[in-house]
Amino acid sequence: MPEVRSLPDDISIPFEGSANLLKLLMDGAIPITHACGGSARCSTCRVRILEGSEACSPRTAAESEIAGRLALPDEIRLACQTKVASSVSVQRLVLDAEDEALSSLLRADIGPAGCDRELAVLFADVAGYTALADALPAYDIVHVLNRFFNAAEKGIVAAGGCIDNYMGDAVMALFGLDHEEAPALAAVTAGLALLEAAESVSKYVQALYDRTFAIRVGVHFGPVVVGALGGANTRRETAIGDAVNVASRVEAASKETGTRFLVSDDVRKLTREQVRFGRSFDLELRGKEGRFCVHEVEGLVE
Ligand code: FES
Repeated sequence: MPEVRSLPDDISIPFEGSANLLKLLMDGAIPITHACGGSARCSTCRVRILEGSEACSPRTAAESEIAGRLALPDEIRLACQTKVASSVSVQRLVLDAEDEALSSLLRADIGPAGCDRELAVLFADVAGYTALADALPAYDIVHVLNRFFNAAEKGIVAAGGCIDNYMGDAVMALFGLDHEEAPALAAVTAGLALLEAAESVSKYVQALYDRTFAIRVGVHFGPVVVGALGGANTRRETAIGDAVNVASRVEAASKETGTRFLVSDDVRKLTREQVRFGRSFDLELRGKEGRFCVHEVEGLVE
């Protein structure tokens, strides 16, 4: 007789014929969450099909709509919308009240689950920030940073990117989130705009405080996971993953190479027709294993 095996409970429920997966799990006293009562509105009955995906019915229209909204991969199914015809092994994904609060679509602010993407990631921060912050009163440093961030935002958005986060004196931006073409070139274009913005801020800082203002920029292109991260009340969409770490390290490498704008080898390969490159450096990136080749950006090809 076919059976549904549920994890992490490690309980198997035998059944006959074709049966609704949620009903089977409930009949087997599995504590499967089903906040909307099985009407395809909450997504809390989601399970991962570990074995036997061929035994599952295709997604219903309602499940397809939710799966599209949340970017659910094929192996994640809504139990209430799935019929099984032979043995399957499933893993419950919403295990307790906290999981439910974080994932129920009955909350208005739930966004897509994590999905794999390839994006260009840009990091920029202020060179010599500590010395500048030590020299200027707190009010003035906030004002100067906001003046730069305001110009940086314009450059990033004009190039087709979006600001992901501000971290103290640093900004992180993503390119390609909405599947725009040539995200690596867009990120390099934005990086050049940021350098121009910093020059203009530097004139301002020079006039007011008799000091210079400069930034460092780094760009990398690679795979990331995009998803809504954060506590239930502070969640926002962001990107995490190795490409983000590498972009940050490429930016930091500007310090040891004495450059203002570095990109990874992947970005150079994608933009070599449109971008003028200067020196190349073969170096270790902090926190990464192996050696990386990074390239100095001089400008766009005329
Ligand atoms: S129980 Fe709500 S979507 Fe399945």
